[in-house]
This record gives sequence, structure tokens and C-alpha cells, in this order.
Amino acid sequence: MQLSERIKNIKPSATMKTLSLAKSLRASGVDVINMGIGEPDFQTPNSIQEAAIESIQNGKASFYTAASGLEPLKVAIKNHYQAAFNLEYEVENIAVTTGAKMALYATFQALLNPGDEVLLPNPYWVSYSEQIKLAGGVPILVPVPDSGKLAVDNFEQHLTAKTKLILLNSPQNPTGEIYHKDDLIKLGNWSVDHDLMIISDEIYGELVYNGNQFTSMGNLGSRIKENTVIINGVSKTYSMTGWRIGIVLGDPQLIKSITAFVSHATGNPATVSQYASVAAFTQGAKAAELMRQEFETRLNLIYPKLIEIPGFDLPVKPHGAFYLFPNIEGALKLTGLSSEAFVSGLLTDAHVAVVDGKAFGVPGHIRLSYALSVDQLEEAMKRIKSFVETNSKRSNIGGKLSNETN
Ligand SMILES: Cc1ncc(COP(=O)(O)O)c(C=O)c1O
Repeated sequence: MQLSERIKNIKPSATMKTLSLAKSLRASGVDVINMGIGEPDFQTPNSIQEAAIESIQNGKASFYTAASGLEPLKVAIKNHYQAAFNLEYEVENIAVTTGAKMALYATFQALLNPGDEVLLPNPYWVSYSEQIKLAGGVPILVPVPDSGKLAVDNFEQHLTAKTKLILLNSPQNPTGEIYHKDDLIKLGNWSVDHDLMIISDEIYGELVYNGNQFTSMGNLGSRIKENTVIINGVSKTYSMTGWRIGIVLGDPQLIKSITAFVSHATGNPATVSQYASVAAFTQGAKAAELMRQEFETRLNLIYPKLIEIPGFDLPVKPHGAFYLFPNIEGALKLTGLSSEAFVSGLLTDAHVAVVDGKAFGVPGHIRLSYALSVDQLEEAMKRIKSFVETNSKRSNIGGKLSNETN
């Protein structure tokens, strides 16, 4: 098989790999708690499902729509942005895509020339780097040691003549942190000054907890707004990962280019999902709020238990999304395990699936999703704690034995 150089350069998604490993263990009868997932565990709210069924029954779902989405869906998105974020976008600023993944993919295809560099705060979501590479771009990782704080200096150090874009994600996957408004304003102004566009992935923007505030890059004045492309979707807010609807908000010229691109790549996003999404944006607020509250309860329950696990360090309680990204270097030291062995031991011995921080650019961490029931979360924390304790004892005994034999 003569595969292209382009595809040889791409790593399969680590989160998808974890998901399939956990699923196959579960299929063989093992009671796996899957904290590797990146999706809400709720059924899509009824009113959204009903709108989809109606569009099938009245025959509307049978046909293609405009490649960039149905007009009524764009109007619903426009109205939602106005109500939820106090942001004005017109229909010509909006493209609807097959998931936020395609929203990002099409945006990179539309904006990047070969060799263009994209500044990407590290840790980062797994698909960004691969999507940038698929568009011929070069991901440049910008270390952000305190993941809640963006400093212009960090970016300045990586600025070259080839820098084209900055990619931001807040609330973040994998850390669950949100960026502060002041930091975003400074970085936004810096990027305008250097003629760099900002891609702001705001897919977790409505999953924010405990009174913390999310700031959209669209809300920082017209200078920054005009320089920003916002990515969003229905997957996380409305528990609609399977429906595959994403959104790009940006300059009409970019939207036209993205439309041309997707018209050849995917065609329109599934028509039935578009009708479902109209209902999400017009009637889904109450159900979305209940799900948000449930995530908040889970975060507040799991965080204190997680930081009790020996060798787990997470000084700041996350603010949004549904992930925890603790530093586990202490636990690796205690157990004498490598991070690969720790993650695979957690799955095979403790039956808890998590994702190695390496996949997000930061080894020595793991990502745990709390999109699980309270019972499962409590059980998972017990299992992880006992895994660390058991393996710590073993490695201590091993240490003693080897000392004695020496
Ligand atoms: C940060 C981030 N952006 C985008 C996506 C893609 O979402 P979608 O299901 O709409 O493709 C995900 C999904 O995990 C994500 O975590």
C-alpha cells in the first residue's frame, strides 16, 4: 500500500483509541469505567429528538440543503449568539458544518498555505496539530505552564515571519480552565498588531461552573472580533455528539471560502441534524442548563476526591468543560511506573480508562472526563486510589528486595 506522505505524518486520535480499547474490554464482560471519553453522557433532550423525527416524517430530512446549512438554522444561531453572548453575527457570517471538527478543518484549509505556522498553547486538544498538518501548516507549541494564564511574552518568543494564526480554546480541553478577559484582550490586540488571525474554539463556552465567567473572543471589541474566527457546535452544550453539527462564525469572505470547500468535501451537514439543531438553539436552553448543573455537581464531587489520590496534583479546580488534567508525576514516582504503564495498568487492572497527557502535549499528566454518573465517578476515584496504593506498596517491596539481594 503506497500511502501518501501527508497521511503518514498523521497520528490517530489518542482519545478515539482509548475509547475503542475501553469498549472492547467492556464487550468482553469487564466492568470498565470510561473516563477517557470526550462526550456528555446524557441522551439528547426530547424536544430536540422530536424536531428531528418531525423533519423525517414530513419529508424535509430527505434532501440536500445549502452546503453551509439551512437558513432557519443560521437565523437560530444568530439569535442564540445575540441572547447568550450579546454578540451580533449576520447570516453571512455563519457556516454550519459536519461537527466542530469539520469547522476547524475547513477553516485551516481556507486559511493556511504550506509552511504557515500556527501558534498553539500547550497543552492542546489532540486534533489541532493533525488538522494543521493536513492543511500543510506547522503547529508551533507555545508552552503555557500555568494553563489558566496566557501571556503575550510566551507567544512573542515564537513569532516568526511565517506565523499566520493563533489557535485558542477556552474553556480548554484537556485542562477545563478558562482564560481571563484581560489576558485575552492583551493577546487579541497583539495578534491584530502582528496581522495574525485568531481561531477561537469556544465549543465548551456554555459549560462553565461555580460562577466562573467565560469570555468569547467576539466580545472584546470590533478590532479583535474582526480578526477572529469562532468555532462552536451543538455536541457538548446540548449533548449531541452523534448528530455532527458544528459552526464557524467569521468574515463573510472566509465563510464563502469554507462553503466552497465543504461543498466538495462533505456537502451539507446531515439535514435531519440541522433540523434537530434548530430546536436545540430555539428550545434547548432549559435542558442545556440542567445538564450544565449536573456537570457542576459532578466536578464539585470529584475534584476533592481526585486531589486526595497520592501523587496527584491539581492546585486549581477547573472552571469549565468536563475534564480534569492532574499532574501525576508524584504517582509515577511512587509506583515506579512509566506513564504508558500507569495508563494501561489503570485500564487492565483497575478497569478505569483515562488518556495519557502525552496525547495533549504534556507528559506526566492524565486526562479524566467526568461525563459519568456520580456512582461511577465515586467508584472510579476509589479504584484509581487503590491502584496507586497497591502499586506503591509493590514498588516499595520491590525496592527493598532488590536492595537486599544487592
Ligand atoms: C476542544 C474541542 N473542539 C472541537 C471538538 C469537536 O467537536 P465536534 O463533536 O463538534 O466535532 C472537540 C471534541 O471533543 C473538542 O474537545
